[in-house]
Amino acid sequence: GPAVIVAIDGPSGTGKSSTSRAVAARLGMSFLDTGAQYRAMTWWMTGNGVDVSDPSAVAALARKPAIVSGTDPKAPTITVDGADASGPIRTPEVTANVSAVSAVPEVREVITGLQRSIAASAPHGIVVEGRDIGTTVLPDADVKIFLTASAEARAARRSGELGATTGAAVAATKEALIQRDAADSTRKASPLAKAADATEIDTTDLTLAQVIDRIVALVEEKR
Ligand code: C5P
Repeated sequence: GPAVIVAIDGPSGTGKSSTSRAVAARLGMSFLDTGAQYRAMTWWMTGNGVDVSDPSAVAALARKPAIVSGTDPKAPTITVDGADASGPIRTPEVTANVSAVSAVPEVREVITGLQRSIAASAPHGIVVEGRDIGTTVLPDADVKIFLTASAEARAARRSGELGATTGAAVAATKEALIQRDAADSTRKASPLAKAADATEIDTTDLTLAQVIDRIVALVEEKR
C-alpha cells in the first residue's frame, strides 16, 4: 500500500517509544524518536558550554550541530556531528535541560525540518513519536494517536526504566516528570497537545501488547 504516516504523541511515561517501535517493526515501517533529536540538541548545547537558560544563546547556535537519526525500529540510532549520542542523551543532565532547549523556536524550526524530510523519504511509511507531531510537524498524518496514562502509572514506568526502586526515588521521578510535562504543555512554541482528530488511548490499565494491537489495527485500516 501507500507510505502511511503515523503520528504518536503524548507525555512521558505513557509507553510511547516502546509502543511506536513495536508498531513500526510489526508493519515493516520506519521509526523516528523525535524526543531523541531534542535530547541530542541539548547534549550538544551543554557539551559546548552554551547557557541553556538563555534562549537567545541557544537560538544563535541551533543550526550548528549535525543531528542524524537512523530509522530502523529494531535498532534506532542517533549521532551528533558523527558521534554516537544514544547513551549521552539519556543522562539526568540532558533530561533536566531538554524542556528549556526544546522551547526555543529556532530549535523547533531546525528539528521540525529534519523530521519532515525524514518522514517524506521513508519508502514504507513511518511511525513518528513525540509531543507535537499530529498538531504541527505532520498535520496530514494518516493515523494520529494520543497516548495518556495516570501520573502514578507514568512515574512507575519511568522509575522502572531508570532502575529507581525506593519510594523516595519513585516520588522524585514522578515530581520531575510532572514538571517536564507542565513545561512542555505550557510553552508558546508548539506545546504538547492532542490533535483534534487524534485517537486518544489511555494506557493506564492496558498492557503494552494491547496498546500495540490497537494501533496496528488502526494503521491497517489505512493501508
Ligand atoms: O520523549 P522524550 O522524553 O525523550 O522527550 C524529551 C523532551 O524533548 C520532551 O520533554 C520535550 O521537551 C522535547 N520534545 C519536544 N517535541 C517533541 C518531542 C520531544 O519538545 N516532538
